[in-house]
Amino acid sequence: MIVLGIESSCDETAVGIVENGHILHSNAIASSMDVQAMYGGVVPELAARSHMEAVIPAVEKSLLQANMTWDDIDAIAVTYGAGLGGSLLIGVLTARTLAITKHKPLYAINHVEAHIYANFLTSTSLPDYVLPAEQPQFPVLALIASGGHSQIVFFRDHFDYTLLGQTLDDAIGEAFDKVAKIIGLPYPGGPKVERLATEGNPHAYPLPKAKLAGKYDFSFSGVKTAVLRTAQAAIGADFTFPSFQLAERLSDTQKADIAASFTRVALETVIDKLLLAYEEFAPKQVIIAGGVAASTPLRNMLAERLPIDITYTDRKLCTDNGAMVATLGCFTAMHGLPVADPRTLDIAPNLSM
Ligand code: KG4
Ligand code: ZN
Repeated sequence: MIVLGIESSCDETAVGIVENGHILHSNAIASSMDVQAMYGGVVPELAARSHMEAVIPAVEKSLLQANMTWDDIDAIAVTYGAGLGGSLLIGVLTARTLAITKHKPLYAINHVEAHIYANFLTSTSLPDYVLPAEQPQFPVLALIASGGHSQIVFFRDHFDYTLLGQTLDDAIGEAFDKVAKIIGLPYPGGPKVERLATEGNPHAYPLPKAKLAGKYDFSFSGVKTAVLRTAQAAIGADFTFPSFQLAERLSDTQKADIAASFTRVALETVIDKLLLAYEEFAPKQVIIAGGVAASTPLRNMLAERLPIDITYTDRKLCTDNGAMVATLGCFTAMHGLPVADPRTLDIAPNLSM
């Protein structure tokens, strides 16, 4: 079962090809991040326009990278939610058209679920990929931490899962991006905040951790506002001082201390909840998926606090990609789950797990 997966839910136009849910044949990505960086974040209209230009070249690049033709492809999988409406529409319409014209079955994929399936890839002939030697063993506890999502999910088996908790406001990556903006770092801010945090004191500023009714839920809006107030206070201004002028007034030390304090509190927030879930559900394995899984301090903190080791997939498969969509497409097909109708498949921007 060889599946071509198309991903276009945010600012990455990505197409991957995967065999039997474990062999990675290609992972082609065209990002409009450089365009989005000019505006300090993803502008939905611009993202949709770049998907339109990039999607067919990405499909062709993916086939070329895999050294395959359409004859080798058994099915097409596409992210239909969650994500930006205009962006999803380009991927879904492309996949629908290809499914009809190339006579392939079509599978509709949930983006957040797909992030987890990136961890099921175990072999590849592509250079520069380091993959886990074995697929995860169920039951699996998964944390999805990205720019759009923060969720803890318990998987008893494939397609048998419970959403334990999620963010009630901002996603963790989004909070990193917003804090980056306050201290004058360009989009996407996560990796840059991580780098600057190594130069700061993680206990310099006492930022709050949200206390919520839901045992496994998170919130990042409070800590984000606390960062803004902290930055205003650090330069001796009050809450009316405009956030976009803060970066030029903050000293390098203040910026590094804010980055370090925020990184510590944001990561502890998700790790505290993940550990609670680990104790309650006793999984065989823990998976960290999504863009924030690339975070070295997150990996270090987990290695210190979690009783079992975590095997991470290649960082290129942590952020949005088409291979994760193709992988989940393989499992969907191999489990005999229903195909989507290529004439009617609609997008679901608010799809949850
Ligand atoms: O999974 P992803 O590529 O896209 C979404 O589905 O959102 O995740 C991108 C997010 C961005 O918010 C980015 O700032 C964050 O992941 N990120 C990080 C790191 N690398 C990426 N956040 C913290 N530390 C990092 N090292
Ligand atoms: Zn994502």
